[in-house]
Amino acid sequence: MSMIKGFHHLTAGVSGAQEDVDFYVSLLGQSLVKKTVLLDGEDPIYHLYYGNAGGDPGTLVTSFPFRQKGVKARPGSGQVRVINYSVPRGALEFWRERFAARSVAYEPDMTERFGERRQRFCHPCGIEFDLVETDHDARPPCTSAGIPADVAIRGVHSITLSLREVAESILFMTEALEFRHVGTSGPYHRFETHTGGPGMVVEFLHEPERLQGSSIYGEGTIHHVAFAVDSVAQQMVLKDRFMAMGYIDISESVNRNYFRSMYFKMPGGVIFEAATTDIGFAIDEEPGHFGEEFQLPPWLRERKDELLGRLEPIAV
Ligand SMILES: [Fe+2]
Repeated sequence: MSMIKGFHHLTAGVSGAQEDVDFYVSLLGQSLVKKTVLLDGEDPIYHLYYGNAGGDPGTLVTSFPFRQKGVKARPGSGQVRVINYSVPRGALEFWRERFAARSVAYEPDMTERFGERRQRFCHPCGIEFDLVETDHDARPPCTSAGIPADVAIRGVHSITLSLREVAESILFMTEALEFRHVGTSGPYHRFETHTGGPGMVVEFLHEPERLQGSSIYGEGTIHHVAFAVDSVAQQMVLKDRFMAMGYIDISESVNRNYFRSMYFKMPGGVIFEAATTDIGFAIDEEPGHFGEEFQLPPWLRERKDELLGRLEPIAV
């Protein structure tokens, strides 16, 4: 059985901070779970975490609003191309009306894959999302004003990777990460971990003609996907396994305050992370109050006023 129980978080570079808050919170009914800063580099950039009210791993999508720094990332292959959110069966008509009423870009036609109906729409920075209908997601609904439980998002359903080559990446998913290769549909491959179902699904989209995308932090791409592991000890087991296969390009275990992160590139070039579930968001805010105040890790707290003064104010 795989050590990976599902997703921890996804991280994207977006444009403006307020536009991003409006997309996740106002449009999609997500909670702002944590408001902090990117911990790499000298210039402060927000790191905004969205998910369900409890901040549960597998519901989290996080943003770096990079318009402030003016760095653009290039979409392409070797990236997570689509974030797929899970909604109950029959919910897509509600969401199509909501997108139309709010001038959100969405595809005119719904599609279906692996027996699930789906609706494509876009973040204002261009990142693609699908809503995927399923009867098999027992996670609590992300309800809010105007979004009742029977249509509300349950969390991340799956991710869709764009890959120029798939053979070695299939081997990596099954042997290194111990996912099951459960099906193919045209250019799509589907993998599942643990019990399978929403939150435990990775899809490949084989796109041999799509040029390679960038892996820089910048506007307009999903930078990486983090899978949930229990502990640093499990990260080290994975690291040994990757190295034994020849994948020696693996980071140390990095302190991200709310979890520990180990980064690695899968063969198709997508940045993966193994993030630990042993710390969590309650270390600086009580459950029920997540995301209310700007938070910094202990080593940056004395610079709070200076850092906040260099970031655009946001309203939730
Ligand atoms: Fe991450």
